[in-house]
Amino acid sequence: MKHIEKYIDENKDRFLEELFGLIRIPSISSLAANKPEMYRAAEYWKQTLLNAGADRAEVYESDGNPVTYGEKIIDPAKPTVLVYAHMDVMPVDPLNQWTTPPFEPEIRDGKIWARGANDDKGQSFMHAKAFELMVKTNTLPCNVKFIIEGEEEIGSPNLGKWCEEHKDMLKADIILVSDNSMIAPDVPSITTGLRGLAYWQVEVTGPNKDLHSGLFGGAVANPINVLTKMIAQMVDEKGRITIPGFYDDVLEVSAEERALLAQAPFNLENYKKSLDIEDIAGEEGYTTLERTGIRPTFDVCGIWGGYMGEGAKTVMPSKAFAKISCRLVPNQEHEKIAILFKEHFESIAPKTVKVEVTSLHGGQSYGCPIDFPAYQAAEKAFMDAYGKRPIPIHSGGSIPIISTFEQVLGIKTILMGFGLESDAIHSPNENYSLEQFYNGIRTIPLFYKYFAKI
Ligand code: BES
Ligand code: MN
Ligand code: MN
Repeated sequence: MKHIEKYIDENKDRFLEELFGLIRIPSISSLAANKPEMYRAAEYWKQTLLNAGADRAEVYESDGNPVTYGEKIIDPAKPTVLVYAHMDVMPVDPLNQWTTPPFEPEIRDGKIWARGANDDKGQSFMHAKAFELMVKTNTLPCNVKFIIEGEEEIGSPNLGKWCEEHKDMLKADIILVSDNSMIAPDVPSITTGLRGLAYWQVEVTGPNKDLHSGLFGGAVANPINVLTKMIAQMVDEKGRITIPGFYDDVLEVSAEERALLAQAPFNLENYKKSLDIEDIAGEEGYTTLERTGIRPTFDVCGIWGGYMGEGAKTVMPSKAFAKISCRLVPNQEHEKIAILFKEHFESIAPKTVKVEVTSLHGGQSYGCPIDFPAYQAAEKAFMDAYGKRPIPIHSGGSIPIISTFEQVLGIKTILMGFGLESDAIHSPNENYSLEQFYNGIRTIPLFYKYFAKI
């Protein structure tokens, strides 16, 4: 569409400068010391929405970090799109692995390099700029609302309640999100599934203090030895999780849908090469894309205890710790899984140690049907922009608030992501290609166009 190309062409450098202003704010939600940065990011978003043409935009308090809300109501009789995104980012460590500093965005090789370049500052900014484009070219076909939250990367612990409290304000017909990936730059896809999550910290206590490992070793249980043995029992040789009842509610995907998912191109050799691994692993009977898309997992995210300083210290530690998570799939309830794991883990602990399991956070999976008008509007938008029908995919990642939106607000979400697997989100050297950024800005107005006609 001509007006889209023209507007992007005339404004593309400014779009980047404005995005860089947002990226330079180190809005790391997991660090209490960065709380003021969350307010700066929220104000930045407020200004971005107002400049783009919102009727109003405000920074709202929640029980946690602030939420920026903005809207433009052109006609209450017309449909409303609610855009959701997050302004918070993940921590940046290990800092020494970054080629350039994480909060000093730089363009190299046609990509933006910075924390948040993709997740989710780069992707969310496409929506701000697509909105601006539609307002300034008088092509906005429906009402628009924006919620930009600051706690997605810590599990959105306060946004559900905030939505309950602002139900009327948030009334909409569809939620539109770009916080996910597509298959490849020339292979468009729409994410129809997100996994859920359950997350725990475990603490295993042996003797009441660190001991000399020569004087006590062999006679007293070492909590690190015990913890690792317990963890090793959680997944069997077929890659199945051994927690009793864990699979009871797992939705088995039909052969038909598995065939559909298998359309997504996947090159195992490139996959292994990109990760420098000799072989892959996972549950027997499933492909790699199925293992990440439609099957649950068990993973240790961190483990520590004992002596970790320089050189050697012969010590029998008193305590061992681990951070453990399970990705969940449709019909598994994260609260139920949280209890099943706790009970099982405590039950397999030997008498030689005390085990404490604390649930940190959780979230439900999400599913979007493909015979759904808004899905078809997204499909048409991609077909116009890319000349190809997008493939429905199940992502392994989680955005727990999406299922909360469905429960609390009764609104479904369309996940129109433009990220790529190679963008290194959450990792050092996160990046986002300029091509994906501008293609997003090109495609989003087409979604509005088709959605407004439903
Ligand atoms: N944007 C990601 C989730 C994502 C990435 C979904 C790629 C699909 C494709 C999001 O910011 C994220 O990192 N979510 C966390 C959730 C957790 C902190 C509750 C995740 O998946 O680990
Ligand atoms: Mn994200
Ligand atoms: Mn993330």
